[in-house]
Amino acid sequence: MRNILVSGGCGFIGSHLVDRLLGRSDIDRLVVVDNLWTGLRENISHIADPRLTLEVGDVEAFRSPLQFDEILHLASPASPSWYMREPVRVIKANVAGALNLLTLLKPGGRFCFTSTSEVYGDPSVNPQPESYRGSVDCTGPRSSYDESKRCTEALLFEAQRTSGIDVRVVRLFNVYGPRTRVDDGRAVSNFISQALTTGVLTVYGDGAQSRSWGYVDDIVDGLERFFWRDVISHRGPLNIGNDREISVLQVARYIAGLVPGSSIQHHPAMPQDPTNRRPDLTLARRILPGWEAGIPYEEGILRTLAWFREKLDGPKACAEDAVS
Ligand SMILES: NC(=O)c1ccc[n+]([C@@H]2O[C@H](COP(=O)([O-])OP(=O)(O)OC[C@H]3O[C@@H](n4cnc5c(N)ncnc54)[C@H](O)[C@@H]3O)[C@@H](O)[C@H]2O)c1
Repeated sequence: MRNILVSGGCGFIGSHLVDRLLGRSDIDRLVVVDNLWTGLRENISHIADPRLTLEVGDVEAFRSPLQFDEILHLASPASPSWYMREPVRVIKANVAGALNLLTLLKPGGRFCFTSTSEVYGDPSVNPQPESYRGSVDCTGPRSSYDESKRCTEALLFEAQRTSGIDVRVVRLFNVYGPRTRVDDGRAVSNFISQALTTGVLTVYGDGAQSRSWGYVDDIVDGLERFFWRDVISHRGPLNIGNDREISVLQVARYIAGLVPGSSIQHHPAMPQDPTNRRPDLTLARRILPGWEAGIPYEEGILRTLAWFREKLDGPKACAEDAVS
């Protein structure tokens, strides 16, 4: 039986991961630490499992009398429009958050971290393998996010080298799905909420920039397998994503086609928006046999659109007090 801490568990991916982990019988207690910056209490308020506790606060300042067998550090916004607004805060969440959480890990425990494909910057190789060292501008407008992820990776792999901590770092590529905030600002959720409200989808630049869109259920399946399996000898970072590369414009057109009356408008490109993004999944397929991000974007978008429709049609009553 394990005591688990999930930072960022009220966020988009974190809340799906909490759902998934509570389906396991080998967890004694699961503590979510979240300051509700970009996350929402309602993302986990449907859970009435007595093993779950929510601690509202900053992960970098979190104190606990408990020591944890496994710590999953997800606390950090992932949307550029959120993290660019408060760069110091995003650095603290990632780097100071990891430093603090390391003090709460039991000897022999495991530390898992959600890094990002942004560590590859604007890549000059495509697809990007884990061995690619990236092309990141440490002075640019995205650097608070990109560099804090890189710095946290450095911190954790150093802890692995010097203290033998079992470290599991995933580099996630673009993830989308239900429970993204309506005002999240990333492409899929933005296009869907625009299609359902104003009817005008905003594409930054010409939309030729490509991404690899991973549906959240597939990604959480990969996370659970990598974070949970004891017998993994791989000690480095691992790409997790969908390797079907699709342009932003193609996604916008697909969503516009699903909501009659919507149209596409082009706005100036976002600063330093990467031109391409595709994970090399050779390693993931080898060390997580049977795992595949198999849900195509067409299907994942239909599911996300249905969720957004329900959300925008009227807030469902949520059992806030189901979570202590
Ligand atoms: N969604 C993606 O496409 C994507 C891609 C690459 C990496 N990631 C990584 O996955 C993780 C989760 O991303 P997400 O899309 O669910 O983002 P999200 O913004 O929905 O969730 C982040 C959660 O962390 C919380 N948080 C932020 N700062 C905190 C702090 N200092 N203390 C406590 N809680 C804090 C937020 O309130 C939120 O609940 C992040 O680490 C992100 O960098 C996500």
